[in-house]
Amino acid sequence: MQESIFKEYLDIKSIFKKNRDVLRPSYIPEKLLHRDEHIDQIASILASALRGDQPSNILIFGKTGTGKTATVKYLGKEIKKATDTLPTPLKDVRYIYINCEIVDTQYGVLQNIGNRFIEDFNERIPPTGWSTERVYNILWEKIDQSPKVVVVVLDEIDRFVYKSGDDTLYHLTKINDDLKNAKVSLIGISNDLKFTELLDPRVRSRLSDEKIVFPPYDADQLKDILRQRAEIAFEDGVIEEGVISLCAAVEAHEHGDARRALDLLRVAAELAERSKEEQINENHVIRAKNKIELDCVIEAVRTLPIQSKLVLMSILIGEENGNHKQMTGDVYSTYRTLARKASKGILTQRRVADLISELDMMGLVSARVKSFGRGGRTKVITVSVPLLETRQVLEKDPMLEPVKGIKLKTQSTLEL
Ligand SMILES: Nc1ncnc2c1ncn2[C@@H]1O[C@H](COP(=O)(O)OP(=O)(O)OP(=O)(O)O)[C@@H](O)[C@H]1O
Ligand SMILES: [Mg+2]
Repeated sequence: MQESIFKEYLDIKSIFKKNRDVLRPSYIPEKLLHRDEHIDQIASILASALRGDQPSNILIFGKTGTGKTATVKYLGKEIKKATDTLPTPLKDVRYIYINCEIVDTQYGVLQNIGNRFIEDFNERIPPTGWSTERVYNILWEKIDQSPKVVVVVLDEIDRFVYKSGDDTLYHLTKINDDLKNAKVSLIGISNDLKFTELLDPRVRSRLSDEKIVFPPYDADQLKDILRQRAEIAFEDGVIEEGVISLCAAVEAHEHGDARRALDLLRVAAELAERSKEEQINENHVIRAKNKIELDCVIEAVRTLPIQSKLVLMSILIGEENGNHKQMTGDVYSTYRTLARKASKGILTQRRVADLISELDMMGLVSARVKSFGRGGRTKVITVSVPLLETRQVLEKDPMLEPVKGIKLKTQSTLEL
């Protein structure tokens, strides 16, 4: 009998222990490292809930991967533990976690909270169809049926505000005026401070009774976080000396983001596994970093709007033709040809210059202003991504089929 094509892969000793998901962002470790201070700070505010009082509202800020979600989920578990051991009159604390990236409408958030207090399935608030006012009225009526403290965590609250405005937050921050028995407090989490500018000043001040900032991790802290996770994820002796330090150093230097550091280690491990090696070494980490970066570029390019793709393609063609000092005019003349061939509307040079600036902000190209002679200034545009791979991604777009494989002679124009 012929051997299974998978046999050679199954024969390799796995470097992962059974559960490789411990390196994924959704996994929350038993103990969060280097966040004691923040956990204590939030716990001291939430402690009033356990006494039956309303805790202050809290706004948590911090860049991505700084442990905000992990911390509030951890606190939710701890509150549950505490309420399970407290005497009855103080017992009823409900901790409701909502990810506003998933539930991002006013109706959705109110429905989600309301339904936690409706046990009879037939009485549940339907996913659509009621007026928001009706949903809100049911919500406060149900919450107020018995004395309790409700802590609502709105993770990624900025997305919710950008998408749906602040009406719901307005209602939720003043719900305590309407409640007789129950008390509600809010924890908002965001990595973007700007969204508070969109809030009604009353909502802003109520929501941010307390502000807590989560700073990025430094290299030593990331090392501890990685080591803790590696012990659960890998068999002993699988990680070569220096691997954890390198992952930590790379991420500390760039963002101090624990999620990215863990991703780097996971991808390095997968590369080692795929090349049938039994140990992860520094070389795998370097390859993993390149792979993750390239995947990000590919995703960014793949999801560009069509006109931006045409502009990027024009810049790539210029570069392929050896023009390493393209100016807006050069790009525009190539762009016009491509847009015509692809039967797309031709934008003005001014608009194309705007799209070039957007590509620059995304880090796909670099557009630097150069001055020369008597106050003359122009932008010099160069590509910041790998030519071949980027072109391949662009050419996968069916709308760019007519310009696939195109080679143009670009002329250098002088623009003053
Ligand atoms: N202090 C820590 N100890 C152990 N693991 C951590 C710690 N902080 C973060 N992590 C891990 O890093 C990953 C990202 O953390 P988390 O999701 O909490 O970040 P975040 O601040 O919510 O980021 P975002 O703003 O992108 O939502 C998770 O896998 C989490 O378990
Ligand atoms: Mg989060």
